[in-house]
Parts: sequence; C-alpha cells; structure tokens
Amino acid sequence: MKELLRMENMTKKFGEVYANKDINLIVTEGEVHTLLGENGAGKSTLMNILIGLYQPSQGDIYLRGEKVKIDSPSKAVKLGIGMVHQHFMLVEALTVFENIILGITKDRAVFIKKDAMKEDILKLADKYGLDIELEKPVTEISVGAQQRVEILKALYRGAELLILDEPTAALTDIEAEGLFRIIKKLTAEMKSVIFISHKMREVLKISDRITILRAGQTIVTLEKNKAEETKLANLMIGRELVSGNYKKVSKIKEHILSMEKVSFNKSSKHNGITDITLTVGKGEILGIAGVDGNGQSQLAQVATGVITPDSGKVYLKTEKVAKFVPAEFIGSNVSHIPEDRNKMGLIGKMSVKENLVLKSMEKDRISIGKGLFLKKKAITVYANEMKNKYDIRCASVDQEIRNLSGGNQQKIVLARELEEEPELLVAVHPSRGLDIGAAKYVHDKMIESRDKGCGILLISADFDEVLKLSDRIAVMYEGKITGVYSGINPPVKEISLAMAGKAN
Ligand SMILES: Nc1ncnc2c1ncn2[C@@H]1O[C@H](COP(=O)(O)OP(=O)(O)O)[C@@H](O)[C@H]1O
Ligand SMILES: [Mg+2]
Repeated sequence: MKELLRMENMTKKFGEVYANKDINLIVTEGEVHTLLGENGAGKSTLMNILIGLYQPSQGDIYLRGEKVKIDSPSKAVKLGIGMVHQHFMLVEALTVFENIILGITKDRAVFIKKDAMKEDILKLADKYGLDIELEKPVTEISVGAQQRVEILKALYRGAELLILDEPTAALTDIEAEGLFRIIKKLTAEMKSVIFISHKMREVLKISDRITILRAGQTIVTLEKNKAEETKLANLMIGRELVSGNYKKVSKIKEHILSMEKVSFNKSSKHNGITDITLTVGKGEILGIAGVDGNGQSQLAQVATGVITPDSGKVYLKTEKVAKFVPAEFIGSNVSHIPEDRNKMGLIGKMSVKENLVLKSMEKDRISIGKGLFLKKKAITVYANEMKNKYDIRCASVDQEIRNLSGGNQQKIVLARELEEEPELLVAVHPSRGLDIGAAKYVHDKMIESRDKGCGILLISADFDEVLKLSDRIAVMYEGKITGVYSGINPPVKEISLAMAGKAN
C-alpha cells in the first residue's frame, strides 16, 4: 500500500499539558484508518493539527513523501485534506447548497456558475451515494443528512483524505450503516479515511488498520485482522478490563412494574405506543431493543410519569398508578437516567453538589423545613462522599458541571438516582456518548443495583448494550412490542430482524 500521510513525532502542548506527545501515524492510500482512544486521548487535537487549525509544538507532516507545512485550514484544503468535525460546522441560516459552496468563490461570477456548480455537486453526491436536498435550509434536515452535507462539502473541495471525528456518535444504527457504505465507496476510489470512534463493533467492521492513542501517545497500530474487541479495549484504557460478561438472572417472581395494553398517541408510528404489555421483575433488567424513534421515548415517559397514557393500566408493584406526574413516581421509588442528561438530567450552570441533591431538597438530611433552609455543610460532606464513591473526577464539588466530561456528568446522574436505592430504575441510553471505561462503570453500577433487587427498564438504541445487560429483551417496532426473548443466549439474528420490522 502506498503511503499517503505520515505524521512524525507530533507534539502539542496546551500550557503544561501534552495533548499529543511524539505521535506517529501513517495512513496509506485507500484505507480506513481508525483512531481509537478514550475521551481526552488526543484524537481531535491530532486531527486539528492535520487540518491546520492548530500548530504543533513539534513534529513533521509528510504527504506522499513530501514534507508539508499546514499553517491554515485553507492550506489543508489545497492539500486535499477535509474534515467532518465532531460538532458540525454548518451555517444554520443557509441552505445545503449555500453551505457546500461557502467561501469557495467570492466573485459575482458565482451567480452565473450556480447551475453548473449544482450539477457538479449532484453528480458527486450521486457517485458516492450521498442522499441530499440542495435547496433545503440545513436546520430542516436530519443529523444524518447534515453529516452527508459536511462530507459532500469536503469532497467538493477535492478531499483525498477525509477525517471523520466521531461520526456515528449522533447516528442511529441504520444511519451508521449508510455512512459505512459511503466510506466504502470513497476507499474504493483510493481516497483515504481517518475514522474516529470508540464503538468497538463498528471499528472492527469498518477499519483496515487501527491506531490506539492513550493519554496523548500512540500505543500501537494494528491490522484489523489482528484486532479483537477485548484486546482493543484493554490497549485503549491501559488496564485489564474484564469484559462485561454479566451473569443473567431468570425466574422472576415479584413484579415491580407492569403495563397492560398501554397506548399513547396511537396513530403515530414514531411518537406513540400501542397496546404495550410488559413487566419488569424485582432484580431483573428488561432491555428494550429497537431503532431509535419507535416509541421508546414515550415508553420511558409513561414509566416515569411524564406523560399520561391514553388507555391501558400501569402498576408499580401491586399499586395501580392513578396520577401520571413525575413526583408521584419519585415518591414510589422510581429513578430515572434520562435520555439526554444535559436537557433533562443535569443543570450545567449548577455545581456538582447542587446537581447531586437536586431531587432531595426536601429531605431532612439536606434541609430544614422541607427545603426552607439548606444544610450547607451537610450537603458538602455528602457531595464529597458521592464524589469518592462514584469516582466523579472534578476539581471540587463546587465546580459547575458543564465543564466536566460526559462520563463524569453521567456519574453524577448515577449517584443521585442510585443512592436512593430505587425499586425501579428507568435507564434510557445510559452509556450514550461515553467512552468505554465510563460506559463499563455505568454498567457495573446498574448490575450492582439489579443484584440488590432493583428492577430496571433499560431502553437503548445500542444493541450491544441491550445484549450485554438484559435478563430479558423486548423488541419495539413502530410503537409496539413485537417480541420478548430471554437474555440468556438470545437469538441475536432473530432480534435484529425484529428490530428492522422483519419479524415473521
Ligand atoms: N484548546 C484546548 N486548550 C486546552 N486544552 C485542550 C484543548 N483542546 C484539547 N485540550 C486537552 O487536550 C487533551 C486531548 O483532548 P482531545 O484531543 O479533544 O481528545 P479526544 O478527541 O481524544 O477526546 C485533553 O486533555 C483536553 O482537555
Ligand atoms: Mg474528540
């Protein structure tokens, strides 16, 4: 394979911290080269150097054997390097077409050339299977479509090396499949792709070679066929990670949650649920498998009292739920790891300690007179206890939580929700966006709760997570439960087909 890119001894310091230290990376023509590493390992920094956003403190870059200096993003474009950032950089006020041509030419001729440009773009889109609508404002298209616009934008500028920084983080499995098909077409044309991800299954599927970064340094580059999940995970986090082979339980006696023919917004296939009947037992994890947007959100909202079903019955233990309000559910010992921790779970501008006691303000150990006077000292002591117990990495419990990593934010949610020893936990995408170490931490804690007798309704679009944790698995498709399977040696193929609506 012919070498396209070589980065030698790349070093980048931010103040006293090495974000990258002596990193070596070789990317060949036509390969998918994955950068694998935990959050903070230095992946984005290295790529930002490559596209000229950062200047390295030290190190050299060679393209096709020739030393280059990439001192600006426009230089990177000239050299045929394009990047789709972790957080997209499209201009919201503009259409897809305007975004793609943005900055290419400022002269008036663009008005004359517009049609020709459009034609070129559509040809390119067609060639790589990038399904887009040029005239739509970017605010009106899905996340997956915005990503295709970013890719097209890079290709239209002549990218031969395309960097995709965590491109699947915000995608559903089906959208990710679409992205992988596009990547395959690019490499078939001998373009190279640097792919960043920490999802092992997809990394093993899409990569030709994998370079592992840890704490700013290169650990090793492996051929795909020499890699395997546990090995990669261990290399990535640098300590033995006992793979999540959790013991499954069966024979549940007591029910913590039961639903009988529960419906909400029945006519909608994507925002409703229809005749849902299910149970979650004491000390059991019921996992809901399904592609995002098949009613899972609504199911979680019913199970936490956020919405009132149009029909059907819900029982918490043997008690029929009469009033669907979150406070009632919290009062019945129901905890919730919400779908979006930033919108529903945590308040970014509040401190670690404030977030930790958010739900227990009226409790005697937190306040006097049901929230009238806060026991400040007691709160600080409690928060520090939680910081240690849940391994929340923050400078101080008075720090605002918005600057913490996703993993540490999720640990705060866990501490708050699990410390109350709930009888039912509704956990929605509990490890979404977390690196493998943090995800394992969340999983361990959930299993620990289960073993203490907590019933868990796990809703996740990450099929691996559902398989790993669930004692039973129910598949949701278009608002209905289309099958329930044992979590012990589950029929993976059959379940995948059911998730895609192809059940017999
Ligand atoms: N602009 C910056 N200023 C200061 N520190 C930074 C900056 N960008 C990244 N870092 C630090 O460099 C390290 C590597 O970060 P990053 O490259 O974003 O990691 P990754 O993409 O692998 O998650 C982290 O410790 C991060 O806090
Ligand atoms: Mg990054």
